[in-house]
Amino acid sequence: MSCSFPWGFFCFFLVVLCLPDSNISTPSHGCFVEERTALMDIGSSLTRSNGTAPRSWGRGDDCCLWEHVKCSNITGRVSHLYFSNLYASDEVLDAHGHSFWRFDTTVFSSFPELQFLDLSMNNATFQSWDVFESFRNLRELDLSSNRLNGSIPSSLFSLPRLEHLSLSQNLFEGSIPVTPSSNITSALKTFNFSMNNLSGEFSFFWLRNLTKLQKIDVSGNANLVVAVNFPSWSPSFQLKVLVLSGCNLDKNIVREPIFLRTQHQLEVLDLSNNSLSGSMPNWLFTEQTTLVYLNLGNNSLTGSLGPIWYPQMNLQAISLPMNRISGHLPANISSVFPNMSFLDVSSNTISGEIPSSLCNITRMEYLDLSNNSLSGELPNCLLTEYPILTTLKVSNNKLGGPIFGGTNHLSIKHALYLDGNKFEGTLPRYLTADFDAHGTLDLHDNNLSGKLNFSQWNLSTLCTLSLAGNSLIGEIHPSICNLTRIMLLDLSHNNLSGAIPNCMTALELDFFIVSHNSLSGHIVPFSFFNSSTVMALDLSHNQFNGNIEWVQYLGEIKYLSLGSNKFEGQISPSLCQLQSLRILDFSHNSLSGPLPSCIGNLSFGQNPVGIPLWSLICENHFRYPIFDYIGCYEDRGFSFRTKGNIYIYKHNFINWMSGIDLSANMLSGQIPRELGNLGHIKALNLSHNFFDGPIPATFANMSSIESLDLSHNKLSGAIPWQLTRLSSLSVFSVMYNNLSGCIPDSGQFGSFDMDSYQGNNLLHPASEGSECAPSSGHSLPDDGGEKANDPILYAVTAASFVVTFWITFTFTSFRM
Ligand SMILES: *[C@@H]1O[C@H](CO)[C@@H](O)[C@H](O)[C@H]1NC(C)=O
Ligand SMILES: *[C@@H]1O[C@H](CO)[C@@H](O)[C@H](O)[C@H]1NC(C)=O
Ligand SMILES: *[C@@H]1O[C@H](CO)[C@@H](O)[C@H](O)[C@H]1NC(C)=O
Ligand SMILES: *[C@@H]1O[C@H](CO)[C@@H](O)[C@H](O)[C@H]1NC(C)=O
Ligand SMILES: *[C@@H]1O[C@H](CO)[C@@H](O)[C@H](O)[C@H]1NC(C)=O
Ligand SMILES: *[C@@H]1O[C@H](CO)[C@@H](O)[C@H](O)[C@H]1NC(C)=O
Ligand SMILES: *[C@@H]1O[C@H](CO)[C@@H](O)[C@H](O)[C@H]1NC(C)=O
Ligand SMILES: *[C@@H]1O[C@H](CO)[C@@H](O)[C@H](O)[C@H]1NC(C)=O
Ligand SMILES: *[C@@H]1O[C@H](CO)[C@@H](O)[C@H](O)[C@H]1NC(C)=O
Ligand SMILES: *[C@@H]1O[C@H](CO)[C@@H](O)[C@H](O)[C@H]1NC(C)=O
Ligand SMILES: *[C@@H]1O[C@H](CO)[C@@H](O)[C@H](O)[C@H]1NC(C)=O
Ligand SMILES: *[C@@H]1O[C@H](CO)[C@@H](O)[C@H](O)[C@H]1NC(C)=O
Repeated sequence: MSCSFPWGFFCFFLVVLCLPDSNISTPSHGCFVEERTALMDIGSSLTRSNGTAPRSWGRGDDCCLWEHVKCSNITGRVSHLYFSNLYASDEVLDAHGHSFWRFDTTVFSSFPELQFLDLSMNNATFQSWDVFESFRNLRELDLSSNRLNGSIPSSLFSLPRLEHLSLSQNLFEGSIPVTPSSNITSALKTFNFSMNNLSGEFSFFWLRNLTKLQKIDVSGNANLVVAVNFPSWSPSFQLKVLVLSGCNLDKNIVREPIFLRTQHQLEVLDLSNNSLSGSMPNWLFTEQTTLVYLNLGNNSLTGSLGPIWYPQMNLQAISLPMNRISGHLPANISSVFPNMSFLDVSSNTISGEIPSSLCNITRMEYLDLSNNSLSGELPNCLLTEYPILTTLKVSNNKLGGPIFGGTNHLSIKHALYLDGNKFEGTLPRYLTADFDAHGTLDLHDNNLSGKLNFSQWNLSTLCTLSLAGNSLIGEIHPSICNLTRIMLLDLSHNNLSGAIPNCMTALELDFFIVSHNSLSGHIVPFSFFNSSTVMALDLSHNQFNGNIEWVQYLGEIKYLSLGSNKFEGQISPSLCQLQSLRILDFSHNSLSGPLPSCIGNLSFGQNPVGIPLWSLICENHFRYPIFDYIGCYEDRGFSFRTKGNIYIYKHNFINWMSGIDLSANMLSGQIPRELGNLGHIKALNLSHNFFDGPIPATFANMSSIESLDLSHNKLSGAIPWQLTRLSSLSVFSVMYNNLSGCIPDSGQFGSFDMDSYQGNNLLHPASEGSECAPSSGHSLPDDGGEKANDPILYAVTAASFVVTFWITFTFTSFRM
């Protein structure tokens, strides 16, 4: 729209309002036409970018009544535009995914009295910023969470009435245009430039005359040098909120607190993630305290949390994880922080006992003391008498004594993490808790002993239970079936024996892990866990036996480990119904017969997992103005053998790992050439079986494979030269087979040790004469299947032939 002279445009349509000597007043029958037209333009630009214009736009003449718009009740002109999240609606996401809103800013020239503009969260891009200079009345501008790039226009700082400016979460680069020569409006109260890619130096010195400044956030700009300390300097502002996390901050901000000492009204201070060193700045806890939230996490602060001389009546949250704070927790912690609701001092080196006065902080909701060197017993009142505590984490300390201090009631509302300590004794037979709908009890890696008996547990909402890595013995008592809400059950690494009980109604488990016990018997589908919901099942290193026909019912399974048991019988083609499978470990059993070729039709990592598995058990979400906390159950890790070693993978490894381990069984027959379809698999181990016939040349299509072990079989024929295309392959073994021909030495094959080939009497290195070229591919017995009926494969093969032939040819000529 050609709207460069809005008043002319306006007069053209509404001549009646432009009569001489008549000043502007609210139009009697609707809003100003050029404002209405501009809004319609914005609506159609939304549609052009695949968004949806708000429904009310265009209905009726009075645009002041439309959604997301507010007009001045004096002049009738548009004064407020609430456009947050207008574009990034669900429809945009669903239909088109990667889209953005090309926003033509010139339409804003139609809103001369705009005071408030919120365009946040729109994936918007601007061509020009010129129009912003005309916003003489603008008080608040929020452009956060868009895709704005280039440098921050300095004109924004000169808008005479601008009080609040947010440009966070964009793609801004370059320096912040606040310099001696810039003309910053003295109206400015808050600015937020967090999470961009700003650089250069940002000096607080040039802000010194801004008397109204209250809030600064420039966090998440790793290359932005922030200078705060200037001798003999007193700024004329008193900040309430200062957030300088994750930027290149003046390391002396706490050691020579020249600047911070001038600020007497700070409520929120976040200096986290800045490599600050020196001692814990306990001087912040002054007598005239105003601090409410303090975050100094992820620095290198030393010293201790004491002494603190003045009670901090306002302080509600302290976050100090990942520092080097030592010493003891103050014995009088409840008198210095009487109103605290959030305390995180995890991953430091704090020692001594946990003071029982913690229990007198009656507002405490979240307490994380994990990964320290705390010793002694856990004060019982933390478990039983904390009125609103939702989460207590004391993982990985040196705490001991009887588990739960011998009590039978837990007052914790959500999650109790006692893992990685030395708690001992048997689990109480009688136990109740005030858990919410997703209760978590993590006792893994302690010294618990005795038998498992839940018959008197009244924990019907328990959702996550880990008892892994203890010394529990005996059978799994059938009373476990009473934990009807359980989603994750980890009993691995104990001495449990007997069969898995039969619950009349199977538990709806997502994760069931009992590896490294002495459990035995057959697995009966739908008897203990609901086979159709379980996503991770680890029965490895037990004595389970019988056939594995039951696996076909594991419709949602992603991680399936049955390794090192006594399973027998054949692998039935019904396995191929498990479309979500990413990790399959049947190693060290007595499985026999052929490998069903349909395994090649499984995706094994092709499809992204969707919701990360672990988000299911990361329910505990705390939101404070300056930090988000997600409390997660920390698993002990899943093991999977690849590249010749057993690796323990944590957490989300199921989201990126994919592999098959069938080693050490009695499988026989030819390796199905369809396995070559597993283009996303990273590890395949078929070693120590009785496979015969050739190595399928189709393996060359496993383009993601990193580890391929075919050793200790009865494979014959040549190593297909096509395998040299596998550029990710880093571990390869065919030792102890009956392979013949020459050993490829191009591509990754140039890097494998001769050990990979030993025990094959007819294999010889490429340099020892005879042909190792594609021409020798004639002798590959199984190449028949992949000829002309697969044109792409054929083309690839032909291309490789040319390349390899050329290499061989030049190599030969060179030698002549
Ligand atoms: C409208 O004009 C009258 C006199 O012509 C003046 O007193 C009044 O302040 C004007 N109002 C506005 C909003 O300009
Ligand atoms: C709108 O969607 C169409 C079809 O999906 C796409 O081709 C086009 O690039 C999208 N436009 C924008 C601006 O995202
Ligand atoms: C204009 O609206 C404001 C609130 O938005 C209100 O306080 C004020 O009284 C209104 N003025 C008139 C003249 O209606
Ligand atoms: C915003 O843009 C990014 C990058 O193009 C894209 O990944 C994201 O899905 C977009 N968001 C929306 C809501 O369109
Ligand atoms: C901003 O991004 C657009 C594409 O979205 C690009 O054409 C333009 O060059 C970028 N501007 C700067 C200053 O990087
Ligand atoms: C800065 O803006 C981001 C949103 O983009 C918000 O999450 C953050 O809390 C803001 N900072 C402050 C100090 O309000
Ligand atoms: C700074 O801005 C104010 C208000 O826009 C203006 O009056 C003044 O002349 C400007 N000063 C400089 C040096 O640009
Ligand atoms: C951030 O800016 C620097 C230049 O200052 C540039 O080299 C880098 O690529 C940018 N990073 C991103 C993620 O845009
Ligand atoms: C701040 O004010 C002082 C006088 O109060 C003046 O000399 C100085 O130029 C001003 N600085 C800026 C950056 O405006
Ligand atoms: C710490 O800051 C760096 C640099 O800004 C950033 O890349 C990183 O994500 C931040 N880490 C956390 C935990 O905030
Ligand atoms: C904690 O409170 C109890 C009773 O409310 C009191 O007896 C005890 O002295 C308090 N402890 C501390 C360290 O304040
Ligand atoms: C389950 O709990 C009920 C009481 O809540 C009890 O009567 C029953 O014996 C328990 N079942 C098992 C198998 O322990």
